[in-house]
Amino acid sequence: MAVPIIKKAVETLQAGGLVALPTETVYGLGADAANPEAVSKIFAAKGRPADHPLIVHLADVASIAQWAEDVPQAAWDLGAAFWPGPLTMILKKQPWVPLAVTGGQDTVGLRVPAHPLMLELLAAFAAVRTPAAAGIAAPSANRFGRVSPTTAAHVREELGDKVSIVLDGGPCTVGIESTIVDFSRGVPEILRPGAISPDDIACVIGVSPHVRGRAEGEVPVPRVSGSLAAHYAPLTPLRQVGSGALAEEVARLVRAGGRVAVLAYSGSAPLGANPVLHWQTMTPEPVAYARELYANLRALDALGAEVILVEEVPSATNWQAVADRLNRAAAGSGTSYGK
Ligand code: TXA
Ligand code: MG
Repeated sequence: MAVPIIKKAVETLQAGGLVALPTETVYGLGADAANPEAVSKIFAAKGRPADHPLIVHLADVASIAQWAEDVPQAAWDLGAAFWPGPLTMILKKQPWVPLAVTGGQDTVGLRVPAHPLMLELLAAFAAVRTPAAAGIAAPSANRFGRVSPTTAAHVREELGDKVSIVLDGGPCTVGIESTIVDFSRGVPEILRPGAISPDDIACVIGVSPHVRGRAEGEVPVPRVSGSLAAHYAPLTPLRQVGSGALAEEVARLVRAGGRVAVLAYSGSAPLGANPVLHWQTMTPEPVAYARELYANLRALDALGAEVILVEEVPSATNWQAVADRLNRAAAGSGTSYGK
């Protein structure tokens, strides 16, 4: 027997309502993926353009077959290896899958998330949904273009009364959005880097996936909203500064009288209290850094500083997903983008 909050969440989904839910990556804003009217409420709540496709969350690997067709063996293998987990696969959709959820495309994004409460919700929803195609469409539960929420409190800050149920599953353990791998166009291609790396994928499928945006002359694809150059962005202007130049740049801005927020992982704050300087130290390791990133960006953004200076992260491949989010945050910051 499901706990009362899960029961209430299932009833809300069945009635075409929205439920905010925890995953291991970031919190999502969920609706019944097979109900186009319910799905349209997600776009309205987020202020998200209707042609941006949503990820459908599933209870288990076997459910892929209900939602996708012509599924390559490599996709089954990745599902077996990494699900439940922070990996989304783009596959050719079954004809019945509503275009509302795929942004009008003939492909669908699928993922089995690794969060106990979310898995409980998915299983409880699958047990009652008729016809039996239980998937929860859920983008990150932030307003379009803004920093993704990694706690239930962030979701309430972002969406307030636009969502009646927020399932509180504690802070997200991964902290940045899933890796997206596209199988719909032959060679598997990574559209968004995440905790599961190209090497992790290559180890399972035996070929290195193409990484979108790396080849010369490629531009980010607008159909993947997380790949827009400006995304995940605070309102305060955010600028990245190399480790060697950080101390000097901070000193210069403080001398000029500005209020400065700093996100740094290598150096420590200058000694002595300084009312115009807020220094946030990050863990110098990419997995922990990712877990802490959005909560810290959100907190620094709330200070009303003139600028958020972020120490550039290493160029090593294990920092790639974090570097991607910081680049997009910098590109979208300080503007009304996505407001
Ligand atoms: O970790 C995550 O993936 C989180 C949690 C809640 O699961 N979800 C998430 O959703 O980040 P969202 O909507 O913020 O980002 C999903 C990305 C978007 O960039 C979207 O364009 C892309 O996935 N996407 C979904 N379906 C797609 C499709 N059929 N083709 C191409 N891109 C797709
Ligand atoms: Mg998002």
